[in-house]
Amino acid sequence: MEKMWSGRFSAGSSNLLDQFNASIMFDRKLYREDIEGSLAHAQMLAKQGILTADELSQITQGLTQVKEEIESGLFEWKISDEDLHMGIEKRLTAIIGDAGKKLHTARSRNDQIAVDFRRYVLRKNLEIVDAIKLLMQEILVVASKHTETLIPGMTHLQHAQPVNFAFHLGAYLSMFKRDIERFESSHARNNVSPLGCAALAGTPHKIDRDMTAQLLGFDSVSVNCLDTVSDRDFALEILFSISTMMMHISRLSEELVMWSSYEFKFVELSDEYSTGSSIMPQKKNPDVPELLRGKTGRVYGSLMGLLTVMKALPLAYNKDTQEDKEGVFDAVETAEISLEILKEAIKTMQVKEQNMNSACKVGHLSATDLADYLVQKCDIPFREAHFITGKAVAKSEELKIDLSDIELKYLQEIDKRIGEDVLEFLSIDNSMNARTSAGGTSTQRTKEQLEYFRNFLKEK
Ligand code: ARG
Repeated sequence: MEKMWSGRFSAGSSNLLDQFNASIMFDRKLYREDIEGSLAHAQMLAKQGILTADELSQITQGLTQVKEEIESGLFEWKISDEDLHMGIEKRLTAIIGDAGKKLHTARSRNDQIAVDFRRYVLRKNLEIVDAIKLLMQEILVVASKHTETLIPGMTHLQHAQPVNFAFHLGAYLSMFKRDIERFESSHARNNVSPLGCAALAGTPHKIDRDMTAQLLGFDSVSVNCLDTVSDRDFALEILFSISTMMMHISRLSEELVMWSSYEFKFVELSDEYSTGSSIMPQKKNPDVPELLRGKTGRVYGSLMGLLTVMKALPLAYNKDTQEDKEGVFDAVETAEISLEILKEAIKTMQVKEQNMNSACKVGHLSATDLADYLVQKCDIPFREAHFITGKAVAKSEELKIDLSDIELKYLQEIDKRIGEDVLEFLSIDNSMNARTSAGGTSTQRTKEQLEYFRNFLKEK
């Protein structure tokens, strides 16, 4: 096949090489970024007197036509064109003739792909932020209804202390807020234009990099061309941001799976977002959170893949870098559908608050409160209070009751210093509401936290 770069070759490339070398079947996703980049580049070349006004207008019209052809499905993507840059430029030249051949002046595919891919990633950082916000809003709707719904707070997956369900969800709101900040800070850091770096060392043509940066929405131009054409930190960063976000999603998903089980029965996912079994007629399976948990794995795979591609690459551009795109596309698309479906699953799930509340009546959740009572009211050192409380727990086990239901006489048999005022410390509800320290679970503190997240979303 005759190539754009065929000048120094005497034989055409083999079909096998074309198959192996091409990126056009996947980088075509970047056609909008590529055409916008070319339009900005052409405008700048015209302003600098490198292209005539007429050439600019031909290029502009030609690229507009190419874009329409792509969007209407008429454009022929050919493996032999190797990548989208050459596919589009070739078609442009076929449409407008010689002016098309001038477009690549003062540019290389190395800065061209750096522009296209970077702009795609920058845009996706912000789109994912918007999708996280929608998810957070839905979590906030559920949380607002459950600032008094008790649920066992756990450590080691064992009942620990009672919290309210909104507080539990607030933990996820905290994670997703950090995710938003991570995507945004990566966007801010990487919003620099590679255009004009050319192959690796800049160009002798009198170009205006500030102009193209501004036209393409970049904050500034990159500082060192050698770095810029081979820098893929922006791609690694979005993969890490997505990986961390998916890790958060997988934790929430795991809880949704557990909570949907007969053992917990804390939530019921809606029929719309549950699946059945092909053999067991009674089954209602939480495939959505299970798949979310599973998809986290492939996103991590993309992150590890690109880190490995970049490892030990000498400066500057190397073809290895072409392997940067598919994993990022896959991770971005996984993030987008994951955020959307998790939001819908949460919106439509039923919260079984009765079951959450009754789960708090097993496991002696107010044991720490009894110890705190002994410290606060009886002036007993905490270590001793811990021991006395252990005795009370053992007594409750013997009586087959929860500590929150133990009668005063049993407690006084264990330690005479215990007074009647202990009973309010033992109530599960009071236990939750006693935790009024900053960031604590009391209903009042939880409401403040929800307000904090509401304000965060409002400011954004
Ligand atoms: N398809 C290439 C990529 O994705 C574009 C840059 C090609 N540059 C080169 N010098 N061969 O990385």
